Amino acid sequence: MGTIVVVGAQWGDEGKGKVTDILAEKADMVVRFQGGNNAGHTIVIGEETYKLHLIPSGILNSGKVCVLGGGMVVDPKVLLEEMKGLEDRGIDTSSIVISDRAHVIMPYHRRLDGLEEEKRTKKIGTTRRGIGPCYFDKVSRIGIRMGEIIREREFSQKLENALQVKNELFEKVYGVKAMEFKEIFHEYREYANLLQEKVADASLLINQAVQENKDILFEGAQGAMLDIDYGTYPYVTSSNTLSGTVCLGAGLGPTRIEKVVGIIKAYTTRVGEGPFPTELHGEQAHAIREAGGEYGTTTGRPRRTGWLDTVVLRQAHRLNGLTHGVITKLDVLSGISPLKICTGYRVEGQLIEEWPVSQEVLDQAEPVYEEMEGWSQDVSKIDSYEDFPPQARDYVNRISELTGIEISLVSVGPRRDQTKIIKNIDF
Ligand code: GDP
Ligand code: IMO
Ligand code: MG
Repeated sequence: MGTIVVVGAQWGDEGKGKVTDILAEKADMVVRFQGGNNAGHTIVIGEETYKLHLIPSGILNSGKVCVLGGGMVVDPKVLLEEMKGLEDRGIDTSSIVISDRAHVIMPYHRRLDGLEEEKRTKKIGTTRRGIGPCYFDKVSRIGIRMGEIIREREFSQKLENALQVKNELFEKVYGVKAMEFKEIFHEYREYANLLQEKVADASLLINQAVQENKDILFEGAQGAMLDIDYGTYPYVTSSNTLSGTVCLGAGLGPTRIEKVVGIIKAYTTRVGEGPFPTELHGEQAHAIREAGGEYGTTTGRPRRTGWLDTVVLRQAHRLNGLTHGVITKLDVLSGISPLKICTGYRVEGQLIEEWPVSQEVLDQAEPVYEEMEGWSQDVSKIDSYEDFPPQARDYVNRISELTGIEISLVSVGPRRDQTKIIKNIDF
């Protein structure tokens, strides 16, 4: 298996959790390398549904080392709750390791996320989990890391310094009350005591595993179009979400990455604001949302829905260097005919086949569609991919042709067994 990166190829919620859980069966270690609890990864095992926000999806396969990498932002309260939730359901969480480099989401980050969002005239629609403000502090060099909250004196000094800056903002810019040092300090010291044993130099551990030829899975969060540099800026998240991020977020060199698997939802969804050229409205948008259960795992917000966009997928392929693709939720399209696939956009009479950087251009972009005949059979009930209706296989093949992505697996339901192999792959 070697080292495999799993990344979202659209705007998140492609089914990364499900695919990671399946691939994790053969892995020794599963690593999250960016983002925080803005992510919501759902895994269905038998009758049980698990929603993970911080802990790698490998946790549901017993005995896997699960690492929260240095590129992540970690809310310790949420992590402890997530661990307890799993323990209460009989899932062992003793294999969790937290990078000492990961930044800590503090109460003032969550508060600022809300205040900033309210102040914006053009809302981003963030998850309000404090992700942006925490990454902001990291870059401003006033962030606090996991390896620091576990050291009482160091933490006290860092918190005092950061809080001074934040309280000035609260009082002078937002006109709200300052936050109390003592309260935060005591609360976070308690979390630090509970998590202390799990905090380690994760990069060392991961590289050691690479040296020993262990099988490692890197689980991305969000998706290519939410990447801070290459996504639909400014309607993006505050971290890099592309496969290259693994190197910095987990602390290993690019020569160590072997395969990159892009997760592609058979149609498109997006939560929050920002451009979405193939977005559907009205009856058809509603039908796909209901059939696909398209409500946010983290915030419960209804997801915007639309046709598959191969402009987006070509960009995701190029930026991630995908070696394999997995199409998820093909079952949701059963019964819809014709199906549309966007191949490019028309702007002022010109055809564009690459994602434009300008919002003004995007506002005028009219998707150009190819129509394909749909299928009526419920593909989630068909055992083998060879027995799928020809229209369903044509749809998968066409995606591959239009994007250049080699599709290896197709998912037709949330459960582990609802996954079909198209091409034998040595995962
Ligand atoms: P992630 O953030 O990429 O891990 O995706 P989410 O978990 O937020 O959203 C994907 C949703 O689709 C979850 O509720 C999954 O259980 C579900 N899901 C995953 N694969 C399939 C599939 O092939 N068919 C259907 N119907 N649901 C799926
Ligand atoms: P997973 O890993 C879908 C979106 C938010 C918002 C924007 C910025 O489950 O695919 P943030 O709180 O990160 O500052 O919000 O990014 N967003 C996601 N959308 N799936 C996610 O994660 C997301 N994480 C953030 O809705 O538009
Ligand atoms: Mg999700």
